[in-house]
Amino acid sequence: MAADHLWKPFDRVHIANPYAMYKRLREEDPVHFSQTGEWIITRYEDTRNVLRNSDFLVGNRFEWLKKGIGYFKYKDLDFSNIEAAMKGFILFLNPPHHTRIRKFIHQVWNSREVSAIIQHNLDTLLSHQSESIDLVKDLGKPLPAMTIGKILGLPESDYIYLKEQGTVMIKALDLYISFKDIMHVNEAAGNFISYFRKIVEHKQKNPDQGIISKLIELNAQEKVLDGDELISTCILLFIAGEETSVSLMSTGLYHLISRPHELDDLRSNPGKIATAIEELIRYDAPVQIVGRIAGEDCELNGKTIRKGETLTICLGSANRDPEVFEKADEFIVDREPNKHLGFGGGAHYCMGDWLARIQTEMMIRSLLERYKSIEMKGVAPKWNNNLAIRCLTELPVKLR
Ligand code: HEM
Repeated sequence: MAADHLWKPFDRVHIANPYAMYKRLREEDPVHFSQTGEWIITRYEDTRNVLRNSDFLVGNRFEWLKKGIGYFKYKDLDFSNIEAAMKGFILFLNPPHHTRIRKFIHQVWNSREVSAIIQHNLDTLLSHQSESIDLVKDLGKPLPAMTIGKILGLPESDYIYLKEQGTVMIKALDLYISFKDIMHVNEAAGNFISYFRKIVEHKQKNPDQGIISKLIELNAQEKVLDGDELISTCILLFIAGEETSVSLMSTGLYHLISRPHELDDLRSNPGKIATAIEELIRYDAPVQIVGRIAGEDCELNGKTIRKGETLTICLGSANRDPEVFEKADEFIVDREPNKHLGFGGGAHYCMGDWLARIQTEMMIRSLLERYKSIEMKGVAPKWNNNLAIRCLTELPVKLR
């Protein structure tokens, strides 16, 4: 008989709905040493403590990937692009490099024109739509790439290409990755490196108002990033908000459209949309899982975690912890307060939360202003095969 494991990240049923698995883990063994050799953390309090504790380091996903790469090296395959592209990702860096690069990006990481850019993109995308559209393919997927492309100062004609590379590259953040995926990630990483090298070279001579030009200009004065780190940072800023934003928009719209009364209420009271978005992030977190490595021996909720052991932290579970959220499994559109951990916490708290929030709010507002009715076309939701970033693959609707 197969063992009754509490942690089953590959089970299709749990990918479609991980919340029953999380509930058992929270109740039976909230700091659980799994058969996959890592600690699984599911309660809110433990999650928050780990994210805020500097004894827990980032980098285990990257280390894991590098191990995979090392393993395949004997086949004479070269995966150096992955390492070159990702070694400057702040997502995988600890102090002092994390602090140095994050502080540096922070100085230029804003955009006064962001609302105008998003509105322009929404008008472009929605004006081409017919009555029947797929909210994932026709809206959720192209919008974040168009917005971040413009904010960074990239040519519009490149967005589709970059979006394709980003979709491949983000696989590197999956919980577990196959050899075939590593090969594709390496190819996309190489494409990104060549692309951004050319862009940086061009912008050094022809600066514009985009964030890449601002990074180059500031770096020329302060000399904080080396050349590879600058390229890595451009890649991360382009891809970090891609799949995550598609996930929030598509999953969020799915939950709202499934609740027509709430959708109508938001149409009449658009001022409530921002609060609804926080609940969407809590209820069905786009980023379900983040990873850490213990930098020291640590105690967590009565368990001893040894230096070097890895932790899989389930943000999606923390957000459903009944110790913190009343009626945690219910979607309460006006829930307040709502201290969800959907954007993480501590030193690596998401840098793009403001952008994801504004963009999602404007998208819901635009749809509700344009259409009196948004109806799902009666199909069961299709989830991507990835527990780490949870996303619908399609959402066909009828607009009127
Ligand atoms: C709904 C959309 C989004 C969600 C749910 C999300 C979630 C997260 C989470 C959970 C982390 C922390 C990872 C960890 O602790 O290991 C993170 C980090 C990060 N996010 Fe987001 N994100 C979103 C959108 C964006 C956007 C739009 C951008 C920028 C374009 C962005 C840029 C980043 C960056 C640069 C980091 C790394 C921060 C660091 O390591 O210091 N994110 N995000």
